[in-house]
Amino acid sequence: MKTQPYSGYLRRAVPAPDAELTSVGPDTPCGEYIRRAWQPVAMLSELGERPLALRILGEDLVLFRDRSGRIGLLHLHCMHRGASLEYGIPMERGISCCYHGWTFDIDGTILSTPAEPPTSRIRETRCQGAYRVHVHDGLVFAYLGPPDTAPAFPVLDTSLDGAEPVPFAIRMPCNWLQVYENTQDPVHVVYLHTRISGAQFGDASGADQAIEYRQTPLGMINVQTRRWSGHLWTRCTETILPNANQTGAIWESADRPKVFQRSALTRWMVPVDDGTTLVIGWRYFSEELDPAGIGDRARVGRQSIDFIGQTEEERSYEERQRQPGDYEVQVSQRRIAVHALETLASSDQGVAMLRRLLRRNIRALAEGTVPSAWQADREGIVPTYVQDTVVAAPEGACDLAATGKRVADLVLASAQQPRAARRAWIAARLAEAAAD
Ligand code: FES
Ligand SMILES: [Fe+2]
Repeated sequence: MKTQPYSGYLRRAVPAPDAELTSVGPDTPCGEYIRRAWQPVAMLSELGERPLALRILGEDLVLFRDRSGRIGLLHLHCMHRGASLEYGIPMERGISCCYHGWTFDIDGTILSTPAEPPTSRIRETRCQGAYRVHVHDGLVFAYLGPPDTAPAFPVLDTSLDGAEPVPFAIRMPCNWLQVYENTQDPVHVVYLHTRISGAQFGDASGADQAIEYRQTPLGMINVQTRRWSGHLWTRCTETILPNANQTGAIWESADRPKVFQRSALTRWMVPVDDGTTLVIGWRYFSEELDPAGIGDRARVGRQSIDFIGQTEEERSYEERQRQPGDYEVQVSQRRIAVHALETLASSDQGVAMLRRLLRRNIRALAEGTVPSAWQADREGIVPTYVQDTVVAAPEGACDLAATGKRVADLVLASAQQPRAARRAWIAARLAEAAAD
């Protein structure tokens, strides 16, 4: 319907959100899809001697470390009569419920039912709900899918790039998808982060960009190419399905040549439930990623990260109104954004493509096709596609879109090279192209 001036009255209805992409609880198609990949559920530093209650994908869980140091993730409510295991007592082996002392191992096996007679067979016939866990670089990951479908834990190549990973975890009061799809909206970097709120991530990111979107074996990248201080800068920002993404240097100055510089931020948008998201991952620190030393490790952790606009707590409401950031735009799209009320335009190509890929995979799984595991190389490491490349370019010498295409082709093709050789391989191909 073509709308008319002063037509608010005619457009009051707020339809339901797009459940296929936004509902994540038990037995929803999207929840089932996200459950098929390992999910970070907590920072290891949050797990002390007491159990930690968690809510992930609409399910109440308890994470604990037993006294021999093993980590378990169990259903929160004790299978006996439902008392919460957040009040449980970690034992040498497993955790003991505080109500009647039933003790569960980290895999959910019942180790003892002290109030029952020795002849009781409950221990042999029943189990507390439990999930597999894996710790990597200070994050606790869990596999919440069907027990016989757990893929090998995927180590991303960016975690072996020599940068220091610093874990963080931020809760956001909105649906996971609106946080996730923001990364495939490179247009907002120019507007929100530079022209509207002032340069939140460096002046270079405000330059006009040529953008294209590419599928990758893991999901998709957007390829942003800008001209800045005598250089052409091509950034690939990566989405790794179902719910991870990777971004390059936070304050890229793009004023000196570089090739295939990797991730400054690898994160998962883990749904707590339909209306809350745990944004959890690693901030990467290195001289290469931040030569000016703007980043601050001390500000990275629980509900905090060292760049602007990611939480409600960091600034006053007035400051957030005057210079809004990612948090303000994502959370204010409503608790769950309503796609039926959007006016998607040509600048939303990345968002539309991401939703298409998600919908395709969600439907395929619902019809019985299990999503393929992230492809690892011969060493068991997953090649990824996030990167920044900056080449010298005299004014008017190069075409932004052609440069972006060339870099993207090389980044994608380089995944066939041994991991340690990718950067040199891309550099050599770019040098050949420059010599032509
Ligand atoms: S409720 Fe947990 S042992 Fe009884
Ligand atoms: Fe942003």
